Amino acid sequence: MANRIELIYRAYPKHKFIGYYELLRPILLIKDPELIEEIFVKNFHCFHDRLSKLVPLNRINQHVAFLSSIKWRQVRSKLVPTFSPMKLKMMCDSLYKCTQVLNSRISEHAQTSKPINTKDMMTRFALDVIGNCAFGLEFDAMKDTNSEFRKIGKTMVGTTSENSIRRLIRLLDPSGILKKLFDFQDISPKVDTFFFNLLKTTKELRKNESMKRNDFIQLMLNIRNKELADGDKNIIFNDDIIASNMFVFFLAGFETISTTLSFCLYELALNPDIQERVHNEIKQIRDSHNGVLDYSSLNQLTYMDMVLSETLRKYPPVPLMTRVCTETYQIPGSDIVLHPYIFVSVPVFSIHHDERYYENPEKFDPERFTEQNIARRIPNTYMPFGLGPRICIGLRFAKMEIKYCLFELLHQYKFLPCDKTDIPIKISSKGTLYTTDKPIWLTVKKI
Ligand code: HEM
Repeated sequence: MANRIELIYRAYPKHKFIGYYELLRPILLIKDPELIEEIFVKNFHCFHDRLSKLVPLNRINQHVAFLSSIKWRQVRSKLVPTFSPMKLKMMCDSLYKCTQVLNSRISEHAQTSKPINTKDMMTRFALDVIGNCAFGLEFDAMKDTNSEFRKIGKTMVGTTSENSIRRLIRLLDPSGILKKLFDFQDISPKVDTFFFNLLKTTKELRKNESMKRNDFIQLMLNIRNKELADGDKNIIFNDDIIASNMFVFFLAGFETISTTLSFCLYELALNPDIQERVHNEIKQIRDSHNGVLDYSSLNQLTYMDMVLSETLRKYPPVPLMTRVCTETYQIPGSDIVLHPYIFVSVPVFSIHHDERYYENPEKFDPERFTEQNIARRIPNTYMPFGLGPRICIGLRFAKMEIKYCLFELLHQYKFLPCDKTDIPIKISSKGTLYTTDKPIWLTVKKI
């Protein structure tokens, strides 16, 4: 999909928008940054929906990424504080524990010089993190390839990591093929049962005060308890909403992270000077913080932040963002009128690779993200986490997790390409996802 969109995008360089068909469904591709702002931000009331009007709600898809209008607003506004810096800070210990397990796995590779399947390793790390930070589970996907959580991950997303991104994209980008939508709907009963059982068990366990933890599930239970205590007539955070959001945090929170980490390590392996600069920055912070990263020092990792931003520019995990028009809307400066149920898409990948906005776009260059260069950039030409009121709710958590991981790894290991590394990397052309066809192989050396 990304390739086809890229062809359409490039075929009409001067057009602000282009219509195309996804099978029988007409879609409007919005290319112009000002028009993107009009649609995704200023006229959000006409474009707040993803796909809920087209697919019936079932008990496991009542989550923030799927709901629309008032229900979406109610759920989102109650969930936002869950991702506040104060709440994220409380998750740092769990995150640190996960990086230690990852560290011991990487250390085995450093000793034997055996290449690492980076994507697989990072997927397991991300699973450990989401299990710990979202659900308070220590299922250890890093060690145990047959862990319950890893199995449910595979059931949810198929056997390949690629499938999982496809599902995420389908979720965030309903490109309109009904069959696909129903396929997405057709979530395995095992997955549904898994999340509802997990919620039931957790609720039982946490009746005991000493079992309470600082994870997303607890934060959602707290929201419900507050609704009950306030005597709200309509309890929004009922079991369906909580279990559905557990499901979406799982789905949205592990493949995006593992893909970003894998591409980042790949670029660092190919750019040793950039890797060394990140290493030096980490060393400096470690020296002044007794070797431990706390939440407040995350902001001091400015160069690492530039590297992460550049990774997300070059490899945006969600390359195409789609919304559904819900009210008749005339495109400013044109006679084109969009009617309800028309889909609009933003070609994030193509904009991130457009020479007009990024000189030499295939070059991995973190300098694009210095304060001055960010200030000079045309607005709405960088949007790996989306934009407007429906921007990624997990943005801060995602950045924190990635930085913790890089902080732990890059101060003691050097990542290098090896004979098995694909250079240049081959991006998958199957479906709407942004990933690789083959594993990303790298080696590591202890510094
Ligand atoms: C590098 C990591 C990530 C990337 C690049 C990413 C990207 C995105 C994008 C592009 C959207 C759509 C935004 C829009 O339509 O304007 C989105 C939405 C969303 N993301 Fe993320 N995401 C990441 C990590 C996470 C994590 C870790 C979580 C949860 C723990 C998460 C949860 C969500 C949810 C729930 C939504 C739907 C929000 C709504 O509709 O209100 N994401 N993400």
